Amino acid sequence: MDQNNIEKFKEKLAELYHLNSAVAVLNWDQDVNMPIKGNELRAKTIANLVGILHDKFISPDFSKLVKAVKKEMDAGELSDDNACVAREIWREFSRENKLPLEFVKELSQTTSRSQMIWAKARKENKFKLFLPELKKIIALKRKEAEFVGYTGSPYNALLDTYEPYMRVEEIEMIFGELRNFLIPFLAKIKRAKVKINEKILRGNFPIEKQIEFNKFVAGKMGFDFEAGRLDVSTHPFSTNFHAEDVRMTTRYDKEDILSSLSSTIHESGHSLYEQGLKTENFGSPLGESISHGIHESQSRMWENMVGKSENFWKYFYPKLTKSFPEHFKKIKFEDFYKAINAVRPSLIRVDADEVTYNLHIILRFEIEKDLIEGSIEVEDLPKIWNDKMKEYFGIIVPSDALGVLQDVHWSGGNIGYFPTYTLGNLYSAQFYAAAKRDVLNLEREIAAGHLEHLREWLRKNIHIHGKLYSASELVKNVTGENLNGQYFIDYLNKKYSEIYKLDT
Ligand code: CO
Repeated sequence: MDQNNIEKFKEKLAELYHLNSAVAVLNWDQDVNMPIKGNELRAKTIANLVGILHDKFISPDFSKLVKAVKKEMDAGELSDDNACVAREIWREFSRENKLPLEFVKELSQTTSRSQMIWAKARKENKFKLFLPELKKIIALKRKEAEFVGYTGSPYNALLDTYEPYMRVEEIEMIFGELRNFLIPFLAKIKRAKVKINEKILRGNFPIEKQIEFNKFVAGKMGFDFEAGRLDVSTHPFSTNFHAEDVRMTTRYDKEDILSSLSSTIHESGHSLYEQGLKTENFGSPLGESISHGIHESQSRMWENMVGKSENFWKYFYPKLTKSFPEHFKKIKFEDFYKAINAVRPSLIRVDADEVTYNLHIILRFEIEKDLIEGSIEVEDLPKIWNDKMKEYFGIIVPSDALGVLQDVHWSGGNIGYFPTYTLGNLYSAQFYAAAKRDVLNLEREIAAGHLEHLREWLRKNIHIHGKLYSASELVKNVTGENLNGQYFIDYLNKKYSEIYKLDT
């Protein structure tokens, strides 16, 4: 073994991560600060940097190092940390090398064109316009699966990009159980006598005061404003340049304080994960989050399990009332709590509540999996979509714009992404149950505004490890068992049976 390989490898790798950070700064700036005329050249600047990054990644020098280090890993000669670095980079490297350059170009040209066509099709409510594009994308993604290779379903090859090591067979089983719980549970909620008035949340909330309140809540959660920023963008997001510079955004609606606040809490959940990575691990997979699903477990836990809980608002409602006295002093706590948790089947995924959200995801997952496996045809999508909406939600879809055309993912070729949203919810409930077992009086602490107990638990058990464990290893280490959808089902059942006074 050449003692120097792994060190040389890590040094070269760090260069790539620095370049990647620079690209992230440019992307963030584009979404948050850039004047409109900057768009065209900025896109080229970013494309150039990404090209350089890619060339370096597949360069003969780097390839030689990757292969040498992989050999040492296979021979069991590396420490756990180094083996993690070698394993994760090898994953990426071998995938990249299986895809012919011509194919990568074709896919990227197709998706950038089809995203524009999709936007037009949605605006004009014309699925037919998008149909030939989507057909091409599905054909290309099937090809991608063939290039990459898989066992079982070709969908596994695509899923692996977003949720490494996860398998469609496991998802199908867990999602199936969740769907079988959700459909009758939603029907029960719809029949419930309890009426909730969500309109009480609407009012007049000056943006300046909203910003102040959002920052206050993010700060209480432990977002470090000396290692990050909260700004404004059309679509809220989080990004990071390293653990000590994490950027998140929200959007403000003058009439709806809860809209900015739930985005901020969600993005703070993502950002705490990034700030919780070890700074000294920057430049390798040890300093990176595990997967989309685990990332989403952090945002969803804070947004819903904490940020829409009675205990959280026991502390924050008086503060909210103090910031917006004219509005909230006339609203009873109980009515407020119910209003922020109202369940209402709706057409649009991004507007969905905690109960119906996962039915939206399950529907999309089932469809995209069937498309990739070839058991349904792209032509039939509107009908399949609308039938499922009727079956799962009991609602009629009035137009494709509000149905099958609503999400950007498929037009961008992001197939295999959707299930990570629901995986995030499932992981979050299982982690939260473990946190409640581990941390004394966790919920009483939350009700007293002491959010640091949960944050520190997450940091110690999840954040600091980076990619050292796979998602399934992490779940097992932290909770003592494999991913188990029952935690999320139990959580929903308890919370919403109380709110809607269902007999269980
Ligand atoms: Co998110």
